[in-house]
Amino acid sequence: KQFETPYEAIGGEEMISKLVEAFYKLVARHPDLAPIFPKDLTETARKQKQFLTQYLGGPPLYTEEHGHPMLRARHLPFEITPTRAKAWLSCMSEAMDEVGLSGPLREEFFQRLVLTAHHMVNTPDNST
Ligand code: HEM
Repeated sequence: KQFETPYEAIGGEEMISKLVEAFYKLVARHPDLAPIFPKDLTETARKQKQFLTQYLGGPPLYTEEHGHPMLRARHLPFEITPTRAKAWLSCMSEAMDEVGLSGPLREEFFQRLVLTAHHMVNTPDNST
């Protein structure tokens, strides 16, 4: 099919939902990540589904509810170190494996996330 967005191409709402659920299960038990996330990840996951939907060209659900993403600014309250960026990406990669996201679409999506994750880094590794 031509002209579909990456959002549609990877499987739309169902795939994003499965991916985000798998991702936060891994985040919740990652020793570098769990300490900076809320215990209850329901709301975090809901916002991430909205964000990734629009990130991939689907409906602008995040912006409709929360305004401009300003992702780097929204991450400033948290110490995002290079180690945590690496951990975030490894959880995402594992989640993509779990939900069976593969091929060029996965590679393109993941490479964009690598850039975005590095952009979120706001604290050096040796600061604490
Ligand atoms: C929120 C950590 C990268 C998208 C958050 C929160 C933390 C966090 C602690 C707050 C959770 C909450 O209070 O509910 C990290 C770490 C990253 C990272 C350690 C490593 C680099 C990313 C990336 C994206 C992203 C790459 C997008 C592709 C979001 C979104 C929210 C969020 C959409 C919700 C913002 C809101 O409150 O409206 N992140 N994040 N994060 N993160 Fe990240």
